[in-house]
Amino acid sequence: MRNAQARCSWDLPDDAVTPQALYLRRREFLRVFGFGLAATALLPVTARAASAGFPDSLNPSFKLDSVKLTAEDLVTSYNNFYEWGLGKDQPKELSNRGWKTEPWTVEIGGLCANPRKIDVNELIKLVGPIERRNYRHRCVEAWSMVIPWDGFPLTRLVDLAQPKPDTRYVKFTSFFDPANCPAQRGKDLPWPYTEGLTIAEARNELAFLAVGLYGKPLRNQNGAPIRLALPWKYGFKSAKSLMKIEFVAEQPQTTWNLTGPNEYGFYANVNPNVDHPRWSQKSERVIGGGFFSGKQPTLMFNGYEQQVAHLYVGMDLRKNF
Ligand code: MTE
Repeated sequence: MRNAQARCSWDLPDDAVTPQALYLRRREFLRVFGFGLAATALLPVTARAASAGFPDSLNPSFKLDSVKLTAEDLVTSYNNFYEWGLGKDQPKELSNRGWKTEPWTVEIGGLCANPRKIDVNELIKLVGPIERRNYRHRCVEAWSMVIPWDGFPLTRLVDLAQPKPDTRYVKFTSFFDPANCPAQRGKDLPWPYTEGLTIAEARNELAFLAVGLYGKPLRNQNGAPIRLALPWKYGFKSAKSLMKIEFVAEQPQTTWNLTGPNEYGFYANVNPNVDHPRWSQKSERVIGGGFFSGKQPTLMFNGYEQQVAHLYVGMDLRKNF
């Protein structure tokens, strides 16, 4: 959806995506050291193949006002990835001690005409090209970031799978690897991590499968090699390191809904008018925003009302939270 009349809210100006000096330095580096080779040598081994075809910038003809990207080092070091522990710094530390995210097979199945098991790099070739979108990211814990994701619209994968008419939901399952992954040996959360969307949500223009951020393949701590990015929903809906995507008739059980049904609903749309039972959702702490400038009001559907409000017309958003 890149036609001219509507400005897409994921499109921010280039200087907002990557600080321009950094962007130019990266370009200069590529020019001096030869395209690709030297640059890919610096990338993590994981998903190296997938970095081919990453866009250098996002479409400059769209922008969101007054949005500043969260610095890359914060996006890649302040993480929620409970498979690696509860601390924000643990995913970066522990998911990079030999956990392999390449090769990686994704299973697409359930009620669809074209089920398959496919290597993630092959999948990217089938559903590409990769595009960059700047998305607001609002965690249910009342903090936020703005992240430049590289990936593709989920609806392209839905098209590839060709769901059958009785499909009403899509279920997403993250990896399960208790041998390498300490928390999965315990029972704090039901593993593997699962999430779900209605088929209409999965087909919405904003629903995105990210394979990179800041123009580089996803780091392990951010959900390599492929994860959801659903900017109008609380961050926990954006399941990381996906192994399985299934088309189903019944609403799938999800990790957080099973864990705390009164606190984490199936829809989990960002809504400043519905508080979490233990804290307000009216405002959010901007990560990297500084002590004084770090708070801002939370927006309905995280600012994406125009794109998604129609999905919930007639629904009581307090009940269907
Ligand atoms: N996916 C898996 N598999 N495990 C997790 O613990 N945490 C969720 C979501 N996806 C999580 C997950 C939560 S609570 C958030 S806020 C985002 O990932 C965090 O993504 P980030 O670390 O890339 O910012």
